[in-house]
Amino acid sequence: MACLVDITDLSVEDIDKIIALAEDIRNNPIKYVESCKHKILATLFYEPSTRTRLSSESAMISLGGSVIGFSGAGASSATKGETIADTVSVVSGYADVIAMRHNLDGAAYVAAAKSKVPFINAGDGGHFHPTQTLADLLTIHSRLGRLNGLKIGICGDLKYGRTTHSLIAALSRYADNEFVLISPPELRLPDFAKKHAGNCAITESESLENSIADLNVLYMTRIQKERFTSEEEYERLKDSYILSPDKLRDAKNDLCIMHPLPRVNEISVAVDKDPRACYFKQTLYGKYMRMALILFLLDEKQKRT
Ligand code: NCD
Repeated sequence: MACLVDITDLSVEDIDKIIALAEDIRNNPIKYVESCKHKILATLFYEPSTRTRLSSESAMISLGGSVIGFSGAGASSATKGETIADTVSVVSGYADVIAMRHNLDGAAYVAAAKSKVPFINAGDGGHFHPTQTLADLLTIHSRLGRLNGLKIGICGDLKYGRTTHSLIAALSRYADNEFVLISPPELRLPDFAKKHAGNCAITESESLENSIADLNVLYMTRIQKERFTSEEEYERLKDSYILSPDKLRDAKNDLCIMHPLPRVNEISVAVDKDPRACYFKQTLYGKYMRMALILFLLDEKQKRT
């Protein structure tokens, strides 16, 4: 089945195709208003979400389709003890595409294996978040005109931040990219995610100020409170990095400042006015990329049957 669990399920050619489609959707939305007529997207969200769920639903509705689903495990039969596998088997009979978010790392693999329709991982624990990466790639591409030859700073919670794991896996497959990973020692990028960086140059640093000057992209992230086992450790680390206008003094004029959102304190509101701030655009691009992804997966399914 055509599924997106890990961003590497898509080849670079697939990603480029999805970006081109998303750009066409952005420029000619009317052309696509009936593309998914009579199709149904099911959103199974066991974990909180604002952007990912609503942009996925808005994407399907903008393609002329409909949406069913639940928001919060408490509203599903998980509370009665139903497994993910059983839920997904059942929902496969009700929907043409399934998007699922779950708090457990790897839950998406179980679900994808059971799904009889295209399946989208909308975030599994502290593991991966491939559709956020699609939004991120379109944002970088439309801002800087390329996805290669970039110096990308990724700052904050690289241990639990699933968006960073998928982003590194995607950008490492484009030529001449290098990463500057900025985090406290406790929240460094885990080995499984580092392996995805392949042969790309990686520098690890604890200082945002010392790293910022020659970056093309700065990707800030939230410290993932819900994944900490110690509240005390979260309190100690939560404000490790706060991007404020003074810290941007030496940054490039075309720096692309990103954040998957929600933000807590990582970017001060004063930065929102800076023309280099791309994080609200990034949320809109997430919708276009999810529209393009739904069309891509349905097309792949058709080709395979
Ligand atoms: C991210 C997530 O859920 O992993 N949010 C999102 O989907 N845009 C980032 C986060 O929660 O910090």
